[in-house]
Amino acid sequence: MDTSGYRSKADRKDTLNTLSYITPHLRPGDTVLDVGCGPGNVAWEIMQSHDGHVLAVDVVDYRRRELPHFALYDGVSLPFADASCDVVVVGFMLHHVPNEMKPAVLAELRRVTRRRLIVLEDTPRNALDRYFNRRHGEAFRKKIGSSAGYGFFALEEWKQVFEVNSLSVVDALPIGRFSRDWQQPFARSCFVLEPAR
Ligand SMILES: C[S@@+](CC[C@H](N)C(=O)[O-])C[C@H]1O[C@@H](n2cnc3c(N)ncnc32)[C@H](O)[C@@H]1O
Repeated sequence: MDTSGYRSKADRKDTLNTLSYITPHLRPGDTVLDVGCGPGNVAWEIMQSHDGHVLAVDVVDYRRRELPHFALYDGVSLPFADASCDVVVVGFMLHHVPNEMKPAVLAELRRVTRRRLIVLEDTPRNALDRYFNRRHGEAFRKKIGSSAGYGFFALEEWKQVFEVNSLSVVDALPIGRFSRDWQQPFARSCFVLEPAR
């Protein structure tokens, strides 16, 4: 497994940008869980500097990084105890969850989160954003052989989805359109959530 590098400069820039939204929420000793870790860059970067456990799960395994605490799971039932993860990170994953499954997935995220749930998401603002989001969603479903509907929401819609599912929105921060590279000017946001108990 490649433990040294990124696929591209844009990947590295994007990962470090994602990290900048997560690290302010980490405390020494925290258990951090990355749900939908994909290549594992974000979890791996957290491991490099964080004094605590880093766990990662996904529904498919296409890691490019050595993550000692990685597990495959069924996409809904997280294999962790209630409130066992201080900080849970969900990077650009929820839009792949069919809309009818989102409440179950969010309930599980809420169940395992002790302090902070950090969700990074596409938040389309215009027709071009929605076009690229749709293409991305379709490509992923083709990869996993799924024909389910997809759910890319605008910023206010995500906020509503979180609140309805008992997750309080502490902050909603815009992610710069050019934080990846100028050829991929995605409209994205970072939501800082906490379980409403
Ligand atoms: C666009 S990638 C993002 C990867 C990584 N979080 C990042 O920010 O680089 C989306 C990931 O979500 C994963 N995924 C899709 N549905 C999922 C589910 N229900 N539970 C966990 N992961 C899921 C996919 O397998 C994929 O790895």
